[in-house]
Amino acid sequence: MSIAQVTDAVIDIEEVRKKYRGGVEALRGVSLKVPRGQIFGLLGPNGAGKSTLVKILLTIVRASQCRGEMLGKPVGDQATLSRVGYLPEHARFPEYLKGREVLRYVAGLGGVAKADAIKKSQELLEVVGMEDWANRKMGSYSKGMKQRIGLAQALVNDPEIVFLDEPTDGVDPKGRLEMRAVLNRMKDEGRTVFVNSHLLGELEMICDSVAIMDQGQIVRQGTIAELTEKTRRYEIGVMGALGSEILGKLKTHGVNMEADRLTMYHQDAGEVQPVIDLLRAADVTITSMTEVRQSLEELFMETVGDKGPGAAMPPKLPKKEKA
Ligand SMILES: Nc1ncnc2c1ncn2[C@@H]1O[C@H](COP(=O)(O)OP(=O)(O)OP(=O)(O)O)[C@@H](O)[C@H]1O
Ligand SMILES: [Mg+2]
Repeated sequence: MSIAQVTDAVIDIEEVRKKYRGGVEALRGVSLKVPRGQIFGLLGPNGAGKSTLVKILLTIVRASQCRGEMLGKPVGDQATLSRVGYLPEHARFPEYLKGREVLRYVAGLGGVAKADAIKKSQELLEVVGMEDWANRKMGSYSKGMKQRIGLAQALVNDPEIVFLDEPTDGVDPKGRLEMRAVLNRMKDEGRTVFVNSHLLGELEMICDSVAIMDQGQIVRQGTIAELTEKTRRYEIGVMGALGSEILGKLKTHGVNMEADRLTMYHQDAGEVQPVIDLLRAADVTITSMTEVRQSLEELFMETVGDKGPGAAMPPKLPKKEKA
C-alpha cells in the first residue's frame, strides 16, 4: 500500500517545525502520515530530528509550529497519551526498582488498574524474556536487559501506537532477533509500531514503510518496495560465452550481458521467462537466477550520505549572534 493512499492514518501531521532555544532548527516543515497497524521506520543520520519529532508527538517537546492529529486528536492532546506507549532513547529507570516494579510503576502512571497491571507485567516479562530476572534490581541488569524492560514498559498500557526510539541500542544479535519477533507480535495484535533506528538492515526486515529524514526534513517516504523499485532487477548467471545470434535476440528483451551474468531491469518475474526460454532453446546452461534490489542502506546513503564532504554529519550549529 502506498502511503499516499493511506486513509486510516494514526499519525497525520503537516508542516511541523521546531527551533530550539539557541537557534538549532531541528525540524523544518515535516509532513508525515503513518498508516494504522504498520511497522513504520523513521531513519536519518545523527541530528536529523527523529527524536525531536517523536518527543513533539509525546508532548515532551513543544513544537514551534504543528498541524495535525494523532489517533484522531490534535497533537498535544494529553488524554490521547494513555493510548500510546513510548521507549525513549537512552531510557533510564530507577536503579533501585526491580524489573517487575518498573513495569507496575509505569502502568500506574498510565492509569492502568492494579489487577491489570500485575497481569500485564507478568505477561510482558515473559514476552521480552526477562521473567527470571523480574525480581532483581535494574541496577544489576546489563544494557540489553534494561532495554528489554524498556520495551516491556512501553507496552504495559496496551497502547494503540508504540514509539520506540532506537530500541535495539545495546541489544545483542539474539536479543535483536527476539525484539523483531516482539515488534511483529505487536503488529499482529493490530498496534502501530513507530521505530527510530540507525540499524537499516533491521528496519528493512520488519518495516512496512519508512521515511528518511535529513536535516529536519522528510526526504523520502514509502514502502521499502516502492523506494527500491527503480533498482529492482533480475540477474541470470550463465555458463560459457554466448554466440552473437542469441546475444542479438537477448538485446531485444532489454538484457545486458556482462561476463557470465545477464541483467534485466524488470518489476515482474514473468517478463524474465521468455529470456529463460531463449537461453534454454539455445542450450545455454543457467547457473542462477536472482532478484536484486537496492538495500535500504544503499538507498539511505544515496539519499543523505552521498552529497559530498560533510553530508550525513551532525547539523552545523547556528552562527552566534554578535553581542
Ligand atoms: N533540548 C535540545 N536543545 C537544543 N537543541 C537540541 C535539543 N535536542 C535536540 N537538539 C538539536 O536538534 C537537532 C535534532 O536532534 P534530535 O535529537 O532530534 O536528532 P536525532 O535524529 O534523534 O539524532 P540521533 O540519531 O543522534 O538520535 C540536533 O541538532 C540537536 O543538537
Ligand atoms: Mg535520536
